[in-house]
Amino acid sequence: MLSKREQRVPCVILGCGGHGRVVLDILVNAGGHDVVGFVDSNPDMTGRRVDGIKVLGQPDDLPRLCDQLGVQHTIVAVGDNGARRALADHVETAGFVLINAIHPSANLARNVTLGRNIVIAAGALVCAHCQIGDSVILNTGCLVDHESLIGTATHICPGARLAGRVTVESGAFVGIGATIIQSVRVGYEAVVGAGAVVTHDVAPMSTVVGVPAREIKRVQKAADMHTWLVPGRARPAELERPIPARAP
Ligand SMILES: CC(C)(COP(=O)(O)OP(=O)(O)OC[C@H]1O[C@@H](n2cnc3c(N)ncnc32)[C@H](O)[C@@H]1OP(=O)(O)O)[C@@H](O)C(=O)NCCC(=O)NCCS
Repeated sequence: MLSKREQRVPCVILGCGGHGRVVLDILVNAGGHDVVGFVDSNPDMTGRRVDGIKVLGQPDDLPRLCDQLGVQHTIVAVGDNGARRALADHVETAGFVLINAIHPSANLARNVTLGRNIVIAAGALVCAHCQIGDSVILNTGCLVDHESLIGTATHICPGARLAGRVTVESGAFVGIGATIIQSVRVGYEAVVGAGAVVTHDVAPMSTVVGVPAREIKRVQKAADMHTWLVPGRARPAELERPIPARAP
C-alpha cells in the first residue's frame, strides 16, 4: 500500500515570491501534491530555500529538472497577470500539466467550472454556476457570487466582493476590498482600485477608483499594457474577442 506521501502528485511551483509562498502554503494544506521545488526567473534565487523548499533553477530549466525528478505537474505562481498567462502558455506547450491550488477553507458551489493554473486562496467563496478561467487568482477571502464569469489571467484581490452575474474580462485586476454590483462587466486589462465600489461597466484598459468608482486613466496604446512586457508575447485573442454578452 502506498504511503500518504507516495499518493501525492509531485509538482514544481514556478515563482518563489510572495504569491509563490502563498501557493506553497495552499498546496501543503490541500494535501494532494508533494511540492518538490520552486523554479524562479531570478537566477540569484537558485540553490536557496524558500519556506523550506529548494529553488531548483529557472523556468527554462524546468523540462530538464522535471525529467530528472519525474515531475510533470506545475503551477505558475506569478502575481503579474500578463506574465502568469505567458508562462502558463509556455510550460503547457512544453508538455507540463498545469494544476490548480485550492485552499481547503475555500468554499466552491458544486456546479462551478474551473480552468487550469487557478489559485483559490483561504476563505474565498465562489457561488453557484460561476465560471473561472485559466490562470485566475481568487485571493484570500474574496466573494464571487452566482453566475459570474471570471476571465483568463485575472486577479480578484483579497476581500473583493463581486455580486451576481458580474463579468471580469481577461487580464483585469480587481483591487483589495473592491465591491462590484450585479451584472457589471469589467473590461479586459482594466484595473479596479482598492476599495472601489463599481456601479457601472468598466472600459477595457481603464483604471477606476473611489466610491462610486470613477475612471482616472485609460491606456490608449496596446504597447503600454503590462501584458505586452513579456518578450515574444502574442496579442491575446480576447482583445479581438471580448467575452460575449450574455443571452438575455
Ligand atoms: C488604483 C491604483 C492601481 C492606482 O495606481 P496608480 O495608477 O499608480 O495611480 P496613482 O497612485 O498615481 O493615483 C492616481 C490618483 O488616484 C487616487 N487613487 C489611487 N488609488 C486609489 C484608490 N484605491 N481609491 C481612491 N483613490 C485612489 C490617488 O490618490 C490619486 O489621486 P490624485 O490625482 O487626486 O492625487 C492603486 O492605487 C490601487 O488601488 N491598487 C490596488 C492595490 C491592491 O489591491 N493590492 C492588493 C494586491 S493582492
